[in-house]
Amino acid sequence: MTDRFIIVPMGALDLDRASALHTESFAPLGERTWTRQDLAELVALPGVTGLLLQVDGRDAGLAVCQVAADEAELLTLAVRPAHRRRGAARHLLTAVIDHARTAGARALFLEVGVDNPAARSLYDSKGFRPVGKRRAYYERGQGPPADGIVMRLTLI
Ligand SMILES: CC(C)(COP(=O)(O)OP(=O)(O)OC[C@H]1O[C@@H](n2cnc3c(N)ncnc32)[C@H](O)[C@@H]1OP(=O)(O)O)[C@@H](O)C(=O)NCCC(=O)NCCS
Repeated sequence: MTDRFIIVPMGALDLDRASALHTESFAPLGERTWTRQDLAELVALPGVTGLLLQVDGRDAGLAVCQVAADEAELLTLAVRPAHRRRGAARHLLTAVIDHARTAGARALFLEVGVDNPAARSLYDSKGFRPVGKRRAYYERGQGPPADGIVMRLTLI
């Protein structure tokens, strides 16, 4: 049986849970994690939308996207470890793409670590293509920072 995913907008009451989910997902990578305050400030910015993916009424994933004029950027995407490899990220990313397109964006951009094969495979499979590189973009705990790849998906 496959999981039944529900996507809901992230509201003010969801910020603590969303921050916990971000931390659970990104701390193992050694990346900076987002506090409740970080998320609150982010979703207050113009054009920023947070989405939560729920399974059986519980948060399993989150995505934050910003649309400005005809361009959109995926600011974060994460799925809780216990819910991975069941299509949750693919479902969430599809919702982000639909949202960005509906909001009038012609292209969706994102950055991904060169050392993050799971996310790179996900983005490749959705049609994103590399368009640039950011040197030493990602903190990696005690280790050296990782380069980021900028990727772009044409929406229309
Ligand atoms: C990357 C991440 C979001 C994937 O979430 P997920 O729900 O497990 O992904 P899905 O089940 O929807 O998988 C979709 C595709 O992603 C790729 N993928 C996901 N996990 C993978 C893994 N561990 N190894 C290789 N490819 C992987 C595959 O192409 C997969 O398609 P397939 O199942 O047909 O092979 C999740 O591992 C995560 O939250 N990681 C930590 C945070 C992070 O790196 N976010 C992205 C920052 S840019």
